[in-house]
Amino acid sequence: MSVLVTGGTGYIGSHTCVELLNSGEDIVIIDNLYNSKTEVLERIKKITGKDITFYNADVRDKAALTEIFNKHNIDSVIHFAGLKAVGESVEKPMLYYDNNLISTINLCEVMKEHGCKNLVFSSSATVYGNAEKMPLYEDMPLGAINPYGKTKWFIEEILRDEAKTGNWSVVLLRYFNPIGAHESGLIGEDPNGIPNNLMPYISQVAVGRLKELSVFGNDYPTKDGTGVRDYIHVVDLSKGHVKAVEYAREHTGCEAINLGTGTGTSVLELKDAFEKASGKKIPFKIVGRRAGDPPTVYANADKAKKLLNWQAEYDINKMCEDTWRWQSKNPKGY
Ligand code: NAD
Ligand code: UFG
Repeated sequence: MSVLVTGGTGYIGSHTCVELLNSGEDIVIIDNLYNSKTEVLERIKKITGKDITFYNADVRDKAALTEIFNKHNIDSVIHFAGLKAVGESVEKPMLYYDNNLISTINLCEVMKEHGCKNLVFSSSATVYGNAEKMPLYEDMPLGAINPYGKTKWFIEEILRDEAKTGNWSVVLLRYFNPIGAHESGLIGEDPNGIPNNLMPYISQVAVGRLKELSVFGNDYPTKDGTGVRDYIHVVDLSKGHVKAVEYAREHTGCEAINLGTGTGTSVLELKDAFEKASGKKIPFKIVGRRAGDPPTVYANADKAKKLLNWQAEYDINKMCEDTWRWQSKNPKGY
């Protein structure tokens, strides 16, 4: 019995593969390497001492997927494969709808043809749209303010409808802000080009690849005026996926579950924690707000504890220490 991991060479996928292997699962990875490199596979092998079956293929390629399902006894799928850059999705909406929606529909069709019913999907806190009340609970109304967010929301709706046929066990994991890296420093986040997200930006300033951090606004109604988010260690997040696969095997239906810590950290607090962890000064300037950024986002994480018996363990200092270990050992990424 194997777990198919789509997008398994990506940032969250690679960390989840390590946790799956460490918990004794057999895994098969499919990734088209659009946003990742095969070197990741060597690193996963180094950490776990285990072999991995990898297919360089697109999840939109039904023939390739069918071949994989014919070859392996796949009982569960974790579907990470997708495009995730908010700004790019505004410029190229069709690319996002095509890649994210078609891949999911294809995958479900092939799973159905092979009697595979357990699906864990990478959703996002972005599906809460512009919620004004915090924390975010799973039963709050959904929405989205950009094409990327809409792909996550639409896929959730599609999977909810499909699950009503009674033949599925779907877990929609809504991630908050994943940061950090495996503590070996062998795998971590390696964005293409200039990072859009705060943590990789800070770590690239620390390692000298970027000059200074731009803080997007200090006039939000938050503790220090800068944006507040629920940062979660990627290894905690990955362990949540192992639990979600176990849950899917034992249940039917469709559940949306937040994976967050329930705690908010501001931009300046994260910068300060990173300076402490790395011993590096992070030069910064305050600039205008980034369009579409809400002031504060954090999860209520009770449902994950109740259904999955999972909760985040690592704090912001550990997230910074592990990011720094990865970034300083791999200044140019993979
Ligand atoms: P990532 O880009 O590092 O990983 C995604 C992987 O999917 C990449 O390796 C890419 O090559 C692959 N991929 C994309 N389209 C594919 C396709 N059609 N066929 C095969 N492979 C394909 O991103 P990540 O940060 O690891 O995110 C994983 C998932 O989690 C994504 O679906 C993302 O939207 C979601 N998510 C991420 C965050 C975050 O902050 N990182 C937050 C919420 C949700
Ligand atoms: N920020 C800066 N400077 C930067 C980058 C970010 O000040 O260079 C600030 C942002 O304004 C925000 C905070 O840092 O207040 C976090 O920003 P990120 O871009 O790291 O994360 P977001 O919360 O904006 O977005 C993330 C994912 C999205 C997802 C969203 C909701 O990147 O894909 O969470 O889950 F949709």
